[in-house]
Amino acid sequence: MLNRIGIYTSGGDAPGMNACVRAVARTALANDIDIVGIRRGYSGMIDGDIVEMDGRSVSNILQTGGTILKSARSTRFRTEEGRAKAAQQLRAMDIDGLIAIGGDGTFEGASIFYDEHSIPIVGCPGTIDNDLLGTEETIGYDTALNTAVQNIDRIRDTADAHNRLFLVEVMGRDSGFIALNCGIGGGAELVLIPETFTDMGEIKERILSLMSSQSRSSIVVIAEGDEHGGAAHIEQILRADDAFADIDLRVCILGHTQRGGSPSARDRVLASRLGSAAVEALLEGHSAVMVGLMNGDIKLTPMRNVWSRKKNINYDLLKLTQLLS
Ligand code: F6P
Repeated sequence: MLNRIGIYTSGGDAPGMNACVRAVARTALANDIDIVGIRRGYSGMIDGDIVEMDGRSVSNILQTGGTILKSARSTRFRTEEGRAKAAQQLRAMDIDGLIAIGGDGTFEGASIFYDEHSIPIVGCPGTIDNDLLGTEETIGYDTALNTAVQNIDRIRDTADAHNRLFLVEVMGRDSGFIALNCGIGGGAELVLIPETFTDMGEIKERILSLMSSQSRSSIVVIAEGDEHGGAAHIEQILRADDAFADIDLRVCILGHTQRGGSPSARDRVLASRLGSAAVEALLEGHSAVMVGLMNGDIKLTPMRNVWSRKKNINYDLLKLTQLLS
């Protein structure tokens, strides 16, 4: 029997985290369970930065970006001592269950914490990267993808006006979901992602042929985690080659613009469904699992699988970028 659950957001924030917090709080309250907000992720858990919540605490947050609970990447929680302090704080406040919203780092911490302190915990996938096994989409990904596509459209206008080559860097430290999909959605000529080997010789040839055969622009989308580094490093490689001397080249790093903003309708619905399902899973006695959406249905995946295994990109989409460019 659960009496009081704590909710926190951790790691990189993602649009839709607030919609998820709202769904968790309202589902818990509807089941007569008290809800508290743990601020600043694991840092706030260790420091006891914990606030009581009620139905009104989550009013008017569905449509907002960021996270009302704040977020952090905690190094102290990586230590046994830090985790013991966090468990002590939770017990002192009679918190007997947790809902974690975050990405792979959040869930790695959560599963180790559960193994050590046995406080039941269920995760909701919240990261723009969409790189979590056990769910087709993560909360925030759809919004980030649309932000990236809208920005590429804008870049295309100016690139076309000058027949320029643009290197556009998007987020994705270890994964190319955003790059691949905004590349298709934005009509990029090339997409470079961490999941595939990037042969710079081939890339140069391809760009030179694109830029010489047509009086037009070209856009290369680069995931920040590509093995050649981000757009700035690829720019250096290209500029060092005399063959690129006459090419008008610019770099645009979309960076954190992809993390902010009001969540899309799709992210709001996903976050609401997953937040509510997470509370139900906790009530049913599940622990150390993540709720996800597979083929439209809620699915539970052991947290350990989520952070220790890699979710594959769809290689057909990569072929599609090559075919369509
Ligand atoms: O994990 C989400 C993410 O946005 C990655 O795509 C990116 O590499 C990272 O977070 C950036 O983190 P920070 O905001 O801490 O620099």
